[in-house]
Amino acid sequence: MSGSNERWLVMNPKEMSILFSEQSIRERVKALAREMNEHFRGRKPVFVGVLKGSFIFLGDLVRELDLDLEVDFVALSSYGAATETSGEVRLEADLRGSIGGRDVIVVEDIVDTGLTLSYLVRLLRDRHPSSLSVVCLLDKPERRQVKFEPDYRGFIIPDLFVVGYGLDCSERYRHLRDIRIFEPL
Ligand code: IMP
Repeated sequence: MSGSNERWLVMNPKEMSILFSEQSIRERVKALAREMNEHFRGRKPVFVGVLKGSFIFLGDLVRELDLDLEVDFVALSSYGAATETSGEVRLEADLRGSIGGRDVIVVEDIVDTGLTLSYLVRLLRDRHPSSLSVVCLLDKPERRQVKFEPDYRGFIIPDLFVVGYGLDCSERYRHLRDIRIFEPL
């Protein structure tokens, strides 16, 4: 990475303003879990985390769920600059288990253009789950390039690039406890 890019990417997290505090994220995750506990009661769903961004959200969400659930992961990548997706989505790592006949809930950190999740939903539908839902923590509907509506969402946000709580900018800032505004897009 060149020196100038490196300078642009490194920001002191304390200089970024907080969009959602740890506390407000916790409350929203609990509320989502209550809805999902209700909806999936008596079922044995598989939660599919989309790596890497969903790892903290998924961990917090499943610990609030009172269901006989399983967890699996996929890794997807889209190519482009640090804050832009290129539109090309690729499956980098597949599920370990089979999802045929199962209730599947895809867990994603953020829906932006919608390209990643529309690709994943198409891929998983071909495996004939008995149901397929999507939960995302953040949704940026203004940026959508393809029609895509999550079934459950934490917060709707405007056109901003955010980091923390699993979300990164070039692999940095995933560990921040709250969600911060990195850069207005
Ligand atoms: P989409 O395919 O454009 O909907 O993008 C989804 C992926 O882009 C997410 O899973 C994130 O990895 C990344 N992304 C989109 N917006 C942001 C953001 O504001 N911060 C960090 N990552 C983002």
